[in-house]
Amino acid sequence: MGTAARRPTGARAKPPVRSVRRATDIDLATTKLGAPGGAFMRQFWLAIHRSQDLAVGRAKPIRIMSEDLTLYRGDSGRVQVIDYRCPHRWAPMHLGTVEGDDIRCIYHGWKFNCSGQCIEQPAELAGFAKKVRMRSYPTEEYLGLIWAYFGEGNPPAFPPFPHRETEGIIQVWNVEEVPCNYLQSFENSMDEVHVAFTHAPGGSHAKLAQDLPVISAKETDWGMLRFGQRKTGKVRHTLHYAPNLTRVLVPPLAGMDGVGGWPEIYFNFTPIDDENHLWLITSHIEVAGAEAEAYRKKRAEYEALVAKAKPAGVVARELMAGQHRFADVDHPELAIVQDIAVQAGQGRIAQRHGEHLGRSDAGIIQWRKILMRELRAFATGRPTKKWQRPPADIKPTFGF
Ligand code: FES
Ligand SMILES: [Fe+2]
Repeated sequence: MGTAARRPTGARAKPPVRSVRRATDIDLATTKLGAPGGAFMRQFWLAIHRSQDLAVGRAKPIRIMSEDLTLYRGDSGRVQVIDYRCPHRWAPMHLGTVEGDDIRCIYHGWKFNCSGQCIEQPAELAGFAKKVRMRSYPTEEYLGLIWAYFGEGNPPAFPPFPHRETEGIIQVWNVEEVPCNYLQSFENSMDEVHVAFTHAPGGSHAKLAQDLPVISAKETDWGMLRFGQRKTGKVRHTLHYAPNLTRVLVPPLAGMDGVGGWPEIYFNFTPIDDENHLWLITSHIEVAGAEAEAYRKKRAEYEALVAKAKPAGVVARELMAGQHRFADVDHPELAIVQDIAVQAGQGRIAQRHGEHLGRSDAGIIQWRKILMRELRAFATGRPTKKWQRPPADIKPTFGF
């Protein structure tokens, strides 16, 4: 995967980035097109969907960074992101039919190829089709997820980051739609102290809760490397790849104890709009042979349990509404329920001005400095950072 040739994108005017007068005018949370945060995010490949949830020949509506789009998988297996609406008279393209790797609008039968070029118009004169084009975005697959590039010009190298190269299973988690801004969840992933409190019920993170780490972080060419110094002197390393991806070693979810060890996870926080985002989590389980079989068996049992349970997002919303005591909740995806409740519970878009940040928030403080600097540069037309692909030799560590 990840080897498909670059495809041309549709004609698209470069959106002007709104200028701002003062640093306090910068909106760190928005990723709308034309906002500094929108320009920042559109420099990178973003995970947008789970591969297994898009069958051959299927088209779906998706919403990413406040833009409606169409995602489809052609008969060759190739995935493509194009405009939400047909440029003829705006019918939704996901109602259409996939033909080979092209897609035909259901309203009047106009057909578009995967670069967005109109190639057939049954009721029109020859020559008109070549004048009609919709936007299309480079689209790839990696680690069980679909990725797209929404920026101008050629995208950065794909895949956008290396993964654990040892033998193992790639396991994609259930997708969560979380009712808050993406930055709250990205910041939470920089907050190693919360695990000792938020995840105390259920005990899934007990190994990380034996003492409270001292947090520090440093900017890198590719994002931010964060350290959690433990009383033992050992240091836990967590990687935060710009603009929204955390690579970290985590304990197994309740119900997956005893098989597979601690997975290495790649946690993508992808904005749907400014008040909602997706958790697209993929992971590498370091198992082979009989261990891999034991893992698959337990995973199947676990998925059956999850299928019978109320969705994690629903239980999290019930917690936010005060319908249960936090410590009483039991759920096969308990850590996910707990995380959504505290992060979405901060509000649809957290009010950062009134917070009281302390030394344990060092990772969050560092990332906000980077983000503010970059967004201010976009807003004022100054040069922005040239982000690099992360090297393979910097990896997350356990810290114990
Ligand atoms: S609206 Fe799509 S073909 Fe007419
Ligand atoms: Fe958490």
